[in-house]
Amino acid sequence: MAGSYQFGTQFTAHMVTATWSRAKGWGAPELTERRPIPLDPTAVGLHYGQSVFEGLKAHRQPDGHISIFRPHAHASRMRQSAARLAMPEPPVDLFVEALEMFVRADGDALPDDPSLSLYVRPLLIATESTLALRPADEFLFVVLGFVTKAFFTGGMNPVSVWVSPDFARAMPGGTGAAKYTGNYAPTFAAQTQAAENGCDQVVWLDAVERRWVEELGGMNLFFVHRDRITTPPLTGTLLPGVTRDCLLQLAPGLGYAVAEEPIAIDEWRAGCHDGSIVETLACGTAAIVTPIGAVKTASESWTVGDGTTGPVAKALYDALQAVQQGRAEDPFGWRYPVRNS
Ligand SMILES: Cc1ncc(COP(=O)(O)O)c(C=O)c1O
Repeated sequence: MAGSYQFGTQFTAHMVTATWSRAKGWGAPELTERRPIPLDPTAVGLHYGQSVFEGLKAHRQPDGHISIFRPHAHASRMRQSAARLAMPEPPVDLFVEALEMFVRADGDALPDDPSLSLYVRPLLIATESTLALRPADEFLFVVLGFVTKAFFTGGMNPVSVWVSPDFARAMPGGTGAAKYTGNYAPTFAAQTQAAENGCDQVVWLDAVERRWVEELGGMNLFFVHRDRITTPPLTGTLLPGVTRDCLLQLAPGLGYAVAEEPIAIDEWRAGCHDGSIVETLACGTAAIVTPIGAVKTASESWTVGDGTTGPVAKALYDALQAVQQGRAEDPFGWRYPVRNS
């Protein structure tokens, strides 16, 4: 690994693959060294984008074994994504078995260092060679991964965010709730716009009214009000984040009331100005919990709280990491231990 843990650059040695065909259904998962996959230039996945993916993490536990974090939740989301794209839904058992095989093979790559985790990337792609405009008859499921460093070891750095005036991520009836590969390339232009405006990430507003705050880049959002924490409801245009679900379940135990409530961009700005919104944070598998320090639109900018990491972001981050790393009880059954890892 040469000690570089830059996200998604240095992959571990192996991968697990399984095929599906309309005639034969699912094949057994197979472990091989990581290598290119055979893909005809007319593969449906390349031309028509029939492909979905997942992203989850595995963590080394105090006794040395590795636990995968919420594999069943990720399996179920991949099945929902696949259904939306008219793809075969990988059985939960196959999905989890492939993850286990991968972690058992490459778990050694994960050093005994709590700031590191094994990021696992399952992909499902249409491999059939045809340019006919219909769902493919052949698919490949692939699991691979890399070791990654928690973004925020030794202090969380608040990010600045750009509210895109023109780009939209998802529309009603579209694919926003699926972890569909085609949702991501269209965000690159908006991310470039954010960088040109001195911001780290893009805030997505709803596509219809351009009023409701939905997500941040590849993360869900939480707003800390004086009396409660809120997160936008899953309207069908947001990705149902597994981390979002974790925070909704962890927050009450930390003494915070939580609610799923829409928030308009004007309410966010007004709340930051009058002090009724004291923190805003983003969350996701890769980012864990990321505080937002400043917001910029085409016409104005404002600070969230005092622009630094707030106590709620810190408490949620610590509580989530403690469960993931096996330093706390696991009341919700989120850890999936891989024996002999
Ligand atoms: C668009 C989008 N929103 C939210 C998330 C956060 O989801 P999770 O917490 O399951 O990683 C992700 C990352 O998967 C994402 O790509």
